[in-house]
Amino acid sequence: MNSTDNPSSDIGELPQGRPLQTEFTDGLDYPRLGTVSFRRGTLTDNQQAMWDEKFPHMGKVLADEVIDVDEWFGRSGHPTIVEIGSGTGTSTAAMAPLEADTNVIAVELYKPGLAKLMGAVVRGGIDNVRMVRGDGIEVLARMIAPNSLDGVRVFFPDPWPKARHNKRRIIQSGPLRLIATRLKPGGVLHVATDHADYAEWIDELVEVEPLLEYKGWPWAEAPLLTDRQVITKFEGKGLDKDHVIREYLWRRTEAPNP
Ligand SMILES: C[S@@+](CC[C@H](N)C(=O)[O-])C[C@H]1O[C@@H](n2cnc3c(N)ncnc32)[C@H](O)[C@@H]1O
Repeated sequence: MNSTDNPSSDIGELPQGRPLQTEFTDGLDYPRLGTVSFRRGTLTDNQQAMWDEKFPHMGKVLADEVIDVDEWFGRSGHPTIVEIGSGTGTSTAAMAPLEADTNVIAVELYKPGLAKLMGAVVRGGIDNVRMVRGDGIEVLARMIAPNSLDGVRVFFPDPWPKARHNKRRIIQSGPLRLIATRLKPGGVLHVATDHADYAEWIDELVEVEPLLEYKGWPWAEAPLLTDRQVITKFEGKGLDKDHVIREYLWRRTEAPNP
């Protein structure tokens, strides 16, 4: 059966009903996305055909399953980076060939975004990218082993600019703790935003997580690629005062996981 006969294949679909949502009991702040975490979108027939063929190998859907990274990438002992909210994967696909030694796991809810990344990966013959469809918080909590990551990237997270929606922002004390526990000692968190108000919000949080030592930007000795490689639509048009790109780097301390 080809994709025209089967336009709504179940491959890579999020399960129906309420998404998995961990109840964190550490007293920290976590975003609660509720129903907004379910993002729809259709693929072209060609994208759907590629998706149906490649997703079973290249992708996973959020599940209660700790990923065996070595098995998934078919090699052992390589550094691993998780990118949360990879969007259409422009940075992901541009960075991955420059870090071919590194396993890159792109996490995104939006299927057409992942399909676009998949297209770039397939066309580029890039073999160090895999993808997980689901909420990045749940993917980190359920699918990524503690102390296992060399890096976590969050590039241009949704700004949720209205004050009453600020609590949906992914950069908060809870996710910072969760990310820290998934990083190995010495692992790096890299965040970028072009949203001035979000940057102020992050500025107030840079020291909040004791397991993350704030390194600022740039950090010449960072042990992973920090050049996003991509000119965003804002950078391309020339930055104005509302679209200054701010980047943040932290290093996971040597302290044991709590
Ligand atoms: C503003 S876009 C930026 C995309 C990309 N990083 C870039 O730089 O172009 C934010 C992306 O994060 C995704 N996203 C938001 N919350 C997420 C979550 N909790 N887990 C995974 N992806 C999420 C959205 O679907 C969206 O594609």
